[in-house]
Amino acid sequence: MTQTAAALSTDAKTAIVEALNQSVAETTVTTMLAQNFHWNITGMGFGPLHQLFQEIYEDHFTAQDDLAERIKALDAHAEGMLAGMLARSKVKEHDGHASDKEMIKAMQDAQETLASTLAGAGEIAAEHGDTLTEDLCIARGQTHEKFAWFLRSHLR
Ligand SMILES: [Fe+2]
Repeated sequence: MTQTAAALSTDAKTAIVEALNQSVAETTVTTMLAQNFHWNITGMGFGPLHQLFQEIYEDHFTAQDDLAERIKALDAHAEGMLAGMLARSKVKEHDGHASDKEMIKAMQDAQETLASTLAGAGEIAAEHGDTLTEDLCIARGQTHEKFAWFLRSHLR
């Protein structure tokens, strides 16, 4: 049965918020990763890759806020510390020393990890009837798969 935020049980909220906090963490770490690559990319593809990494971090910056504000709509605490986000995130930081192809592959991997995390978060929301969170997670998962395709296409 479909449940709005106010009708969700405490256990359901805890599970959904945990998945959303992981989603925020990975989105935030990937925002920094994209900015890092936007700055440090080199090679003949500099122009379009510099631009693509910017498109990614701008998208992710907005998404961090949308996901965190969904946590607040569920009346829970949104993780706001970088150390906490790094501890939660399956996407890891990068020192920014890499070839263009290595950066594209690292960002593709990050997008695929995010797609998987968001699909999982959507599934948890769906299990509890929280279709409004599910909808946000589905939309975010689709965007990450789109970026994964953009990146993958450079390496073929
Ligand atoms: Fe810039």
